[in-house]
Amino acid sequence: MSHQLTRRSFHRLAASGAALIGSHALWPLAHADEPADVPWTSDDPHLSGNFLPVQREVDARDLRVISGRIPADLRGVYMRNGPNPEFKPLGYAYPLDGDGMIHAVYIEDGKARYRNRFVDTESLKVERRAGHAVFGSFTHPVPVDPAMFAPGEVPSQLKNGAFVNIIRHGGRLIALNEATTSYEMSMELDTLGQWTAGGTEPLRLGAHNRHHPRTGDLYALEYSWRTPMVKFHRIDPSGKLVSTRSVEMPMPTMIHDFILTERYIVLIAGPAVFDAQAAKAGKSMLQWRPDLGMRIALLPLDGGAPTWIEGDPFFVFHFGNGFERGGRIVVDYVHHESFALVHGKDATLRRLTIDPARRSFKVHQFSDEVTEFPRVNHLYEALPTRYVYVPTLTSSLKLPDPPSAVFNTVLKFDTETGRSSRHDLGNQIVGEAAFVPRPGGHREDDGYLAAFTYDPARRSSNFVLLDARRIEEAPVAVIEMPQRVPQGLHGNWITRT
Ligand SMILES: [Fe+2]
Repeated sequence: MSHQLTRRSFHRLAASGAALIGSHALWPLAHADEPADVPWTSDDPHLSGNFLPVQREVDARDLRVISGRIPADLRGVYMRNGPNPEFKPLGYAYPLDGDGMIHAVYIEDGKARYRNRFVDTESLKVERRAGHAVFGSFTHPVPVDPAMFAPGEVPSQLKNGAFVNIIRHGGRLIALNEATTSYEMSMELDTLGQWTAGGTEPLRLGAHNRHHPRTGDLYALEYSWRTPMVKFHRIDPSGKLVSTRSVEMPMPTMIHDFILTERYIVLIAGPAVFDAQAAKAGKSMLQWRPDLGMRIALLPLDGGAPTWIEGDPFFVFHFGNGFERGGRIVVDYVHHESFALVHGKDATLRRLTIDPARRSFKVHQFSDEVTEFPRVNHLYEALPTRYVYVPTLTSSLKLPDPPSAVFNTVLKFDTETGRSSRHDLGNQIVGEAAFVPRPGGHREDDGYLAAFTYDPARRSSNFVLLDARRIEEAPVAVIEMPQRVPQGLHGNWITRT
């Protein structure tokens, strides 16, 4: 049976209401007429195990709460994006390739429902028309025949799967990729089109953006693999692009994340550069060039000239938070000694302290535990924070030689004391933990940590809420997912107001 047929048959059944019958989320597992997994396999470890994509789009209500209970006053949606290639890729470089799929858990009145949908990008439309993968990898692009694009679509040899992140700003939900256009989604995960931020053309954005704590403006990064210019857009609380400023790097540089403080944009860029000559020679388009050194730019939000600071190179995919204190800029982040796509086994949580007056910085390592995906309470973004939440890997996960980005423990790291508390999930994989503020909460850690977990023995997934104040205790709630939720990237707690 072809995929299109199975997709249609599923939607026909869903439209009949069958998916909504029953007190628990058993329907999609017990009655679906198509398998959850994509009908292909791969030797790539980041397309195997729980990295194997799912093809089924599911709706399920009244999910079974396995333990604990859903807080009655909690209302909102946890949405998480991730690479989920529908067709077997021609080339694959985790975490830079894939089609986006959003997995959402809607919480209201002490109940939970689940829904997952592909992000229906132009790139995915091209491949669905072809019935197979068309695009190469982000690191090893291949020529794509312009005739494969429909009228109105923009021919490109790079795929835009909008699979890295999903955020809400200006009343809009935005699925983000890296260094390209983003897609607006509905709360029910319909793809509405490319986001223009109030303009006439789709806005190119990076995957990570930051809100200013006083103005509510969204600061968004744009870089390009073609030019050394890095742009920062300011988008007002209504979702309209207000201004853009640029800085120039020595070469086109990959910059996945940045920091915002109350008065500065802080660009912290290791020398992971795009090298078209290397790509023509069959090498990765992304090259680590330590000779170019580390470059940090402090861009005053009032429009003043940037301050540049240089030093020994390292690489950062993700920052937890940054803030100003005592004339310094403090940044908590995950440190990589260099850029490599098969990364993560040497990454550690560290604090970068920048002295703008001396144009210098120093690095302090908090812990030697391997980690990635640092998060804080987003209500304190750009303001002083004490706690960073990160996943790590312990010996209680019984997978032999797990690939990078596989974790089984959530750490709450106290940057004031240097101590951490933890929730070890044993033989279950956990990813990034997003902060969910507790309604009426006043303290920085007054809330929950939300994450999907995966049991490799049962090949099943749960949604877990931990109490952020006491993460070592039993989860507040463990909710059974109606299908396996593949390993993903970034998620956020979305409120409807
Ligand atoms: Fe990221």
